[in-house]
Amino acid sequence: MSTKQGTPLWLDRPAPISFDALAADLAVDVAIVGAGIVGLHCARLLRGSGRKVVILEARRVGRQATGRSTAKVTSQHGLKYASLMRDFGRDAAQLYARFNQRAVGEIAGICAELPDRAGLEERDAFIYAETARQAEQLREEADVAAALGLPAEFRSSVAVPMRTEGALRFSGQYQFDPYLYLTGLAGLTRGDGVSIFENSRVTDIDASTPCVLEVNGHKVTAQTVVVSTQMPIVNEGLFYAKAYPFAHPVAAAPLPAGVEIDGMFINTGSPTHSFRTAGKDGQRFVVVAGAEYKTGEPRQAETAVADMLAFMKRVFGIAEPSHLWSNEDFRSMDSAAFVGPASSSHPNLLVAVGFDAWGITQGTVAAENLAQRIRGEKHACADLFDATRVKPIAGGPTFVTENIKVAADLVGGRVLGRKATAFEDIPPNGGGVVSHGGEYVAVRKTEDGTVTALSAVCTHLGCLVGWNPVDRTWDCSCHGSRFDEHGEVLSGPAVAPLAPKPAPPAGKRSG
Ligand SMILES: Cc1cc2nc3c(=O)[nH]c(=O)nc-3n(C[C@H](O)[C@H](O)[C@H](O)COP(=O)(O)OP(=O)(O)OC[C@H]3O[C@@H](n4cnc5c(N)ncnc54)[C@H](O)[C@@H]3O)c2cc1C
Ligand code: FES
Repeated sequence: MSTKQGTPLWLDRPAPISFDALAADLAVDVAIVGAGIVGLHCARLLRGSGRKVVILEARRVGRQATGRSTAKVTSQHGLKYASLMRDFGRDAAQLYARFNQRAVGEIAGICAELPDRAGLEERDAFIYAETARQAEQLREEADVAAALGLPAEFRSSVAVPMRTEGALRFSGQYQFDPYLYLTGLAGLTRGDGVSIFENSRVTDIDASTPCVLEVNGHKVTAQTVVVSTQMPIVNEGLFYAKAYPFAHPVAAAPLPAGVEIDGMFINTGSPTHSFRTAGKDGQRFVVVAGAEYKTGEPRQAETAVADMLAFMKRVFGIAEPSHLWSNEDFRSMDSAAFVGPASSSHPNLLVAVGFDAWGITQGTVAAENLAQRIRGEKHACADLFDATRVKPIAGGPTFVTENIKVAADLVGGRVLGRKATAFEDIPPNGGGVVSHGGEYVAVRKTEDGTVTALSAVCTHLGCLVGWNPVDRTWDCSCHGSRFDEHGEVLSGPAVAPLAPKPAPPAGKRSG
């Protein structure tokens, strides 16, 4: 069996639904940029409200972060509740618990209306401890979560094929197929005021009143814009300086005979090992996510993949995965998402970013929050996620360190060529940034020896991109933009492709 690299298990099928590209100017009440879980849920909640709503999706529905996730539908978000209680207080933790747990039920309810129920399966969610100290932390989290009304308890033993010191269980949670869910949701949502366009990248948003968006050479005017692109593609609010990107490798493999996994699991220690089962095309799979690494750092990515594959071999006896991919999310300065107006001077430009790898329920709550605002109502979580809040103390040392790393990348990356590699060191089917003729060139070598080259300067703010050996893409560690091997934008904040460059000539390929 050979591994399908860069292809998520969920996306390894023909698209069940498709939409035209925008081909004319348009005037709407609400323009939603991005058809992920936030954008689609928001449109669904505005459907039939008398407003004219358009979803503008740069690529195809559901194929970015949501469609590349491990797709656990749960209010269990790591050790979230003890930390919320500590940093934001009891009322905030209570709101977070109530709305995320409610979103679990809402998603399950939507699945009931979709073909094959979007692969929905009820499962308990477990965080397992590998040390006595971790078990203590999980007991504390269980107490906090249970006191907030969540279905949480600490169990001293848990049925996983490795030694543990116990686990925190949230009962009655779900796992699903995120691609079937989002494409099904798109089908349910279109009509009754909502239109959807694919292959319609928004390349500029003028946040006046009304806002004017540029899409495929056409203008879309909208009273309100929802920028649901993960990291917003607009400068307003400077979210790229308030949240940083990170990535994980993910793999899937047919579930080996005799291996039983009853639940969705993640460890609390480091490196991360997260796993669940999935049914697809009549076969059972195990889906595993590995350690967090910095977007755009090839060596960190390789280490994370090697650790994840060793885990799959050790624990499940899997020699080689059928699918291997990576996914990216963003963490805010205080670990709470930014949802709402981008800034006080732009009340009609709405954003949702910073779900910290738990965006399935949080994205659903964010969509509800934004839809209520558009309807002129105030959501109970509006203040908690206020995108204009400033909490530098809660940001803590991690955020400061990440921002220093970004600054180093901007300066060091461009001026010192920290990321440059020698042309000869790039293996077949690999990529690397080569310093050539006084500029940085992103060089890709295919298996058959063809060499292509692009500018290595990210079109967002000019950091250097790095090769992603998992998905074979060019990723920017500064603010998380991703480009395919031909330079086309996969995810923002960048909106313009990497410029093609002549391949460095033989014999003059480094230095
Ligand atoms: C490894 C990993 C595993 C995860 N697993 C889970 C999990 O099990 N459970 C969970 O709750 N969360 C999980 N997450 C987090 C979750 O995937 C994200 O938080 C969530 O999917 C974000 O949803 P979104 O709608 O904001 O973004 P997306 O789903 O990425 O949607 C954004 C859309 O915007 C489009 N877009 C971008 N730019 C433009 C533009 N200029 N014009 C038009 N469209 C544009 C994109 O093409 C995309 O379709 C995981 C994250 C990672 C990294
Ligand atoms: S994503 Fe901002 S510089 Fe690349």
